[in-house]
Amino acid sequence: MKIQISAIVGARPNFVKMAPILEEAGRRSAFQCRLIHTGQHYSPEMSATFFDELGMPAPDVNLEIGSGSHTAQTAGVMLRLETELNERRPDLVLVVGDVNSTMAAALVASKLGIPVAHVEAGLRSFDRRMPEETNRLVTDVLSDYLFASEPSGVRNLLAEGIPEERIFLVGNVMIDTLMKMRDKAAQTGVLDRLGLKRREYAVATLHRPSNVDDREQLVSLVNMLTELSRHLPVVFPVHPRTKERMEGARLTERGLILTEPLGYLEFLRLTSEARLVLTDSGGIQEETTILQVACLTMRENTERPVTIENGTNRLVGTNPETILQAALDTLDAPPKSLAPPEFWDGKASGRILDVLEGSGNRIGWGALRHTANAPEYKLRSPGRHSGCT
Ligand code: UD1
Repeated sequence: MKIQISAIVGARPNFVKMAPILEEAGRRSAFQCRLIHTGQHYSPEMSATFFDELGMPAPDVNLEIGSGSHTAQTAGVMLRLETELNERRPDLVLVVGDVNSTMAAALVASKLGIPVAHVEAGLRSFDRRMPEETNRLVTDVLSDYLFASEPSGVRNLLAEGIPEERIFLVGNVMIDTLMKMRDKAAQTGVLDRLGLKRREYAVATLHRPSNVDDREQLVSLVNMLTELSRHLPVVFPVHPRTKERMEGARLTERGLILTEPLGYLEFLRLTSEARLVLTDSGGIQEETTILQVACLTMRENTERPVTIENGTNRLVGTNPETILQAALDTLDAPPKSLAPPEFWDGKASGRILDVLEGSGNRIGWGALRHTANAPEYKLRSPGRHSGCT
């Protein structure tokens, strides 16, 4: 009997995280996956493009919840997913990341008594004003398998009283995708298309509510980027949320290279060759760490401290003058590259499936709840284990 997994995705970063897990599961006879798209992100450039480029199978189901308030999105996923999960009764619901769809799916599965596995567990900004922080806390407390991408995740979960036997440090699935796609990304013509030279431009992204929903803050950040563009070209792929807010603020800036949200491959190419990246995204802090490209995070905190300890990331806050100064300083003195974080090696998906497969075989899948156990991955390294290549 195969282990039946319902894999849930909803928003752009979810696709990048789920793709390598599905691919690896497809290579193993132990698993049967059903892919459920909540429809939180639905525009072609936020969703379909990623499925195509990452080689993901089309979703088996699309719940089509679309945009709305956080409550509307969460409730929409819960209502529709409940019907789906009741019909299918999978052995496990697999969720990734920290978006509304992640939390909503964990809630439904937990209420139905279906075990939940959370990939990217334990990350904490300790800032409850961030909607993602609520999503992380709720998802983790309901999960039976907590797959951490970095040591801070393990520490946070233990401090919150999550039993050690549920926690596995497996590395970063986003980096699995990055490593797989890097060569393909190098073949895109995005630099030529935008008239850029390698290492002679900056890339900026902004979409956090704290940066874009406040009109004054958004205007001052865009002005800061415009000022930076007097020193080097600044490419700014504009997230739909930010676009809406920029239009609302009647921001008609000059000097920046504005684009629609880019596909995965073009964006990876763009960041790989940038001299500097300025962002408020979570995933980009991780990608630039592996690409060894200087990253300035325009936030007061990060839930990904390993990107600062082991990476090229610096937290620069949200004050435009401080950010501009940090950007100019970084152009003068780029950060030194360090060894990548442990297990950010392209093999995280394999480790996750090893844990699930091992547990399923050993104790019988029906009895999994709260009994996950795979000593090879507990808290630290997979050691000599060889099944994760
Ligand atoms: C969501 C996630 C965030 C993640 C981000 C990546 C939550 C709480 N937030 O934020 O963690 O980093 O995705 O992009 O889940 N829109 C479109 N097309 C789409 C989707 C959205 O135009 O395909 C527009 C809509 O106007 C919508 C707005 O973007 O109102 C925001 O979308 P939403 O899913 O609410 O949150 P994001 O800001 O994308």
